[in-house]
Amino acid sequence: MMYSREFIQQVEQAADIVSVVSERGVALRKTGSTYKALCPFHSEKTASFNVNPQRGFFHCFGCGIGGSAIKFVMEYDKLPFVEALEELADRFSIPLEKTTSSSAKEQSEDRLLTALEHATEFYHLFLTQQSAGETGRQYLQNRSIPLPTWEIFKIGFVPEQWQLLVENLTSRGFSNSELIQAGLAKSSPKSGRPYDTFRNRIIFPIRDIRGRCIAFGGRTIDADQQPKYLNSPETKYYHKSQILYGFFEGREAIKKKRKLILVEGYLDVTRLHQFGFPEAVATCGTSLTADHVRFAQRYVDRVILLLDGDQAGQAAAWRSCPLFLSGRLEASVATLPVGEDPDSFLLTHGGEKFSELLQRDTPVFEYLVQQCLAKHSSNVQGRMKAIEELLPMIGEIFDETIKNMAITHLAELIHLPEATILEKAAKYLRKPHKHDTLENFHSTDSVSIEIQEEKRLLQVLLHFRRFITLAREFLDVNEFQTPHFRQLYKQFLQFSDQEFHTKAIEELEHQIPDLYSEIMKLYMEGMPPEYSEADFKRLIRQIKERILKWQRDEKLASLSDEEKLHANIEFRKKKQALDKIYPHR
Ligand code: GTP
Ligand code: MN
Repeated sequence: MMYSREFIQQVEQAADIVSVVSERGVALRKTGSTYKALCPFHSEKTASFNVNPQRGFFHCFGCGIGGSAIKFVMEYDKLPFVEALEELADRFSIPLEKTTSSSAKEQSEDRLLTALEHATEFYHLFLTQQSAGETGRQYLQNRSIPLPTWEIFKIGFVPEQWQLLVENLTSRGFSNSELIQAGLAKSSPKSGRPYDTFRNRIIFPIRDIRGRCIAFGGRTIDADQQPKYLNSPETKYYHKSQILYGFFEGREAIKKKRKLILVEGYLDVTRLHQFGFPEAVATCGTSLTADHVRFAQRYVDRVILLLDGDQAGQAAAWRSCPLFLSGRLEASVATLPVGEDPDSFLLTHGGEKFSELLQRDTPVFEYLVQQCLAKHSSNVQGRMKAIEELLPMIGEIFDETIKNMAITHLAELIHLPEATILEKAAKYLRKPHKHDTLENFHSTDSVSIEIQEEKRLLQVLLHFRRFITLAREFLDVNEFQTPHFRQLYKQFLQFSDQEFHTKAIEELEHQIPDLYSEIMKLYMEGMPPEYSEADFKRLIRQIKERILKWQRDEKLASLSDEEKLHANIEFRKKKQALDKIYPHR
């Protein structure tokens, strides 16, 4: 989807960056006309994260990240540009621009979604209206799934036939390849003909955050049919490590309560919804991933993991809990009696007992410690083993204060002196996070001269755009020694002089989002109020001369005396040629 520049600007102007940042749990403190906070993108003790409401951008002097509200949402919520834009438009009540699906690629993608939408409708109508849907209706009734649930989740059914859906969608003009790409059909290895992926199953449509159906989960209705649940294959739209079933259906309650109850199965989700817990979600036949957690963080502050009381459920909890330690969600585990899942528990004991059970939850950290202690013997050796197992997890805790508290807490729970634990913990305590390759470029000591010069050149270009003409004339991309700065320079040169001159930095953000934070960093690090053309030329000369010297020195090492002489003469000539850029004093 393409939105116009005007629309993007409209959203940027309307999006109050202070609200955007603080609504995501970053505690901003007002200092003069700007705001400060501990950076949410790296671990730090002093606040180097700045928000400037007038100019509508944020910047962290610690890790270099920065940009507009859109950029913040992209980074914080881990969203692609368009989704971050839509999220903000929604938040600040700006109606989405009607977009035309411009490219052929977009149109074909739309067709896949349309096919999935038709399939949802087809399966749902089959369940609710067709006489051959009777088996499906019977099954759902036997499991006490009431009609409103069928509707809310658009549950469907498809009987045991090979090409019901294929025939239906083919008659609507979809090609075999489209059906296969959408995960709705498979092609027979023998005849090459397509057949329905889902047969003889109750169908649970899986929707994305916007309510678009992107995949299905299908439950067999015959006890001896395998697998019990069949899920759509991953497609362009369906990445199962990111989707939580039930999120769309429960989104209003979820956003209001800022809480999720994480269960294992589709049916558990629908059952909780039915009993007044619409904040229930499930992964789609996979374990919980860090992507799921990041997704959840965008909308909620709390997650209760409610897993089956059996061995498998506990094992899943043990795997999932560490994912919450590195994030900022408050997560806890509630445990069902052995042999029950949320669905069976609610049917047997009802909603009130269920609420009580939720209230007896254990914070994930304590849960992990308990489980770990239970695994090992209670003597000192056993407890030391438990610590060995727990410390790497503690090392993942993002917030330094919480991490320290966890260590104190662990010492209490495990009955060992805190000092013992701290000693063991040392190697797991995170070093301050440095921002990729730029890390050493910004501490002014110990930085090599070429890095300083090249950086200065880029800074000057950003502040005094008119110099791009000179730079283009005299300094080739390959003369940059620092790969990182070379890449930025290359991007600058891709604009025409006129464009570079007139386009605001914000424009660069959309053109080269990946490099934008580094540009912001350069830009914000400060600059003398004036920089003359002569100054700029001198800088170019310095850079070029240094390279010449360096090339000569490289050569000299391997040359005979006579050759050395030549190399030196050549060097001097080239150096003199630089006088036309800036005369040597
Ligand atoms: P019911 O038996 O219908 O009550 O479902 P359940 O949710 O209680 O089933 P179970 O606890 O066995 O499975 C929980 C979840 O794991 C399901 O909702 C599926 O997402 C997934 N799952 C279960 N069986 C299979 C399977 O055979 N294949 C795949 N891919 N996923 C499965
Ligand atoms: Mn079940």
